[in-house]
Amino acid sequence: MSAPPGRARISASILDSDLANLGNSVRRLGAAGADRVHLDVMDGHFVPNLTFGPKTIAGIRRRTRLPLDAHLMISEPGRYIGEYLDAGCDSVTIHVEIEEPIEPTLRAIKAAGRAAGLAVKPGTPIEALEPYAPLLDIVMIMTVEPGFGGQSFMADVLRAKAEPARQLLRHKLVGGEVHVDGGVNRETAEIVGSMGVDILVVGSALFLRGRDMAREVRLIKALADEGFQYGQNEGVPPGPRDRMVLLAVLPKHLAQQLWREIHDGGLPAVMLRGDGQVNPDGVRDYDVLVPAEVEAIIHERHDATGARLLEEAGAWRASFPSSVPSDRG
Ligand code: DX5
Ligand code: ZN
Repeated sequence: MSAPPGRARISASILDSDLANLGNSVRRLGAAGADRVHLDVMDGHFVPNLTFGPKTIAGIRRRTRLPLDAHLMISEPGRYIGEYLDAGCDSVTIHVEIEEPIEPTLRAIKAAGRAAGLAVKPGTPIEALEPYAPLLDIVMIMTVEPGFGGQSFMADVLRAKAEPARQLLRHKLVGGEVHVDGGVNRETAEIVGSMGVDILVVGSALFLRGRDMAREVRLIKALADEGFQYGQNEGVPPGPRDRMVLLAVLPKHLAQQLWREIHDGGLPAVMLRGDGQVNPDGVRDYDVLVPAEVEAIIHERHDATGARLLEEAGAWRASFPSSVPSDRG
């Protein structure tokens, strides 16, 4: 499946959807092109509102293939984190303002192989996240007071926190995400994109009566990408976020060596049987692909190995007698 176009991704909040018909809401979001489902969990204590818990999320898990992006506005996430992970959340973001220890919960999320995030309320300095930065995959900037959808976007909060948020994620060569949550819609999407934000949390704008949800998703993404193009990318339109680029084409055993070196260096790569030549051992060449966003650093670190393996491939092929059997896969 080819990556959706553009850079901006939408994590759609169901807070202002018909909570008596969540299955239909998430189905509509998937059909409309939302990229994730943003789950606003509220305990009536950390914020003056109460929504849903892990059992509801487990039900939603069964009704959509979209990644589930939990935003826990609760005072004791550490006490319940196992239930949210078991319910199937792909990412879990907790608040830096809670009183209980934060690190154990972030570690529990990562140990479960999920993305761990910290959210910061408008009035909390972004510096509060610094002690936890090495554990973070997500930094979520709240541009409304948490608790309710449909509030007005606080542009100054984003202006002050967008760049420091990105700095907090500089340890992540790939996959670090700045989320903005609250008041994101067609009026504010361009400024959000201009600040380099990766994931736009959008709630009420998608469920407004009489609005076409798919059109709203397209509009918001297009405006955010325009903002990024002129605010961050010197006028160049952003490429698709999840694009993979071809790094090398090698016989399978040599492709595995290159893949292993990249992987062991902490960077993502995939190897797929390509449509290259069939080798003397009857196995077609494999492609080694990497995410576009880390292509430069992978060239820097692994080009020497790639060149050596290409040479080795030539010598290996030449070591066979001249007949070439058919493709064995
Ligand atoms: C507010 C929630 C937000 C909210 C977004 O506490 O965290 O996710 O639902 O809704 P809108 O887009 O309407 O501000
Ligand atoms: Zn939220």
